Amino acid sequence: MVDAAAVLAGVDIGSTMVRVVLAEASGSRLDVIGVGSAPSLGVRHGVLVDADRLGSAIRQAVEQARVASGVHVDRVTISISGEHVDALQSQGAVAVEGKGGTISTMDRQSAIDAARTVAIPFEREVLHVLPRDFEVDGQQRIQNPVGMSGVRLGARVHIVTGGVTAVRNLVACVERAGYRVADLVLSPIAAARACLSDDELDMGVGLIDIGGGTADVVCFEEGAVVDTCIVPVGGQQVTGDLAVCLRTTWNHAEALKRQFALSEDDSLQVARVAGGSPERVAQAEAWEIIEARLEELFGLVSRGLDLPQRPIPRAGFVLTGGSCQLEKMATVAERVLGASTRIASPPVRAGVGDGLAQPEWSTAMGLVLTAHDAQSEGPTQLTTRFDSTAGRMRSWLEGLL
Ligand SMILES: Nc1ncnc2c1ncn2[C@@H]1O[C@H](COP(=O)(O)OP(=O)(O)OP(=O)(O)O)[C@@H](O)[C@H]1O
Ligand SMILES: [Mg+2]
Repeated sequence: MVDAAAVLAGVDIGSTMVRVVLAEASGSRLDVIGVGSAPSLGVRHGVLVDADRLGSAIRQAVEQARVASGVHVDRVTISISGEHVDALQSQGAVAVEGKGGTISTMDRQSAIDAARTVAIPFEREVLHVLPRDFEVDGQQRIQNPVGMSGVRLGARVHIVTGGVTAVRNLVACVERAGYRVADLVLSPIAAARACLSDDELDMGVGLIDIGGGTADVVCFEEGAVVDTCIVPVGGQQVTGDLAVCLRTTWNHAEALKRQFALSEDDSLQVARVAGGSPERVAQAEAWEIIEARLEELFGLVSRGLDLPQRPIPRAGFVLTGGSCQLEKMATVAERVLGASTRIASPPVRAGVGDGLAQPEWSTAMGLVLTAHDAQSEGPTQLTTRFDSTAGRMRSWLEGLL
């Protein structure tokens, strides 16, 4: 039987799907051993709106992953998003107390704690305190001050907060579903862990996770988080626009949207609502509808990051999340944001666990990677070893032991 403490579970609570990745940790090794997903009916624009429905979606998705891997799931790392999430920059400083004026890990932590002691309104809960850089006796932009000598150590941090009610309701919902919450991670921070390279992080990069109900953004400079924002627009609005403007059903509009890239015809067959006879609509007309919503989305990202006032990330933007599979998404992003973009998926080897190598799995994969980082030092060696047959075989064997 796999030690329960060694099983890491990432539960991505999205607006359209709950996605679960289970992994087994052993030192620096992390084996993905099961995945599960279920439609997420109780979340709108990243925020919980129906705890019963979300609770059963979480149970269903975890159970699917659990059955495939034959392990017990107790503690889970969950994603959090939604417009209630906010961020602020802060700084603080302390006198160095390490022996002989050498800065210790305790001094580093004290400086971060000093930066954290800003007045956070009582209706907000701190989700992350992310150190940006340090200052030793006036020398700025130090990435790791531990081991240096100095008298005064300052820290700059990026603090992410969430609305207390939204955060507590989400945690309570997961706990009622039968799992303890080990940690909450802002959705784009998890996705960034799965998608970004060290070079991109060092150069400066923005990641945009475009899902069904939100576009979640995080920017890095010199390896540290410098900005985060949540835009309440995603693929569901694109589908909704197509359904309304082309007078068709939601399901048909969703199918049209997904096939858009595949269609070589100049026109699309559109089934009208309430039995109206199908009509052909020019691709260009459907594209205008999609493009208008995408321009709005990236316009809001640009405003959320205050882009005209600050430099574009040197490594450009990385797009992930289910909606980045939409045809020409990267082209619109490049035009509106004025930066190069690439599309990213989780780093899963082809062959095993192929389904995971899709952009909608970035956040769930990032959650287990983040949980693993918290308990192991050095780079993670990621492998996948699961398929439904092997999983069933394994639980059957374990049942015999
Ligand atoms: N092939 C495709 N082409 C276009 N869009 C797609 C494709 N596949 C999935 N999508 C869109 O991706 C969206 C779902 O993405 P994802 O699973 O990342 O969202 P989520 O995590 O549930 O939601 P959110 O992160 O916004 O809370 C849906 O709107 C869906 O229409
Ligand atoms: Mg998502």
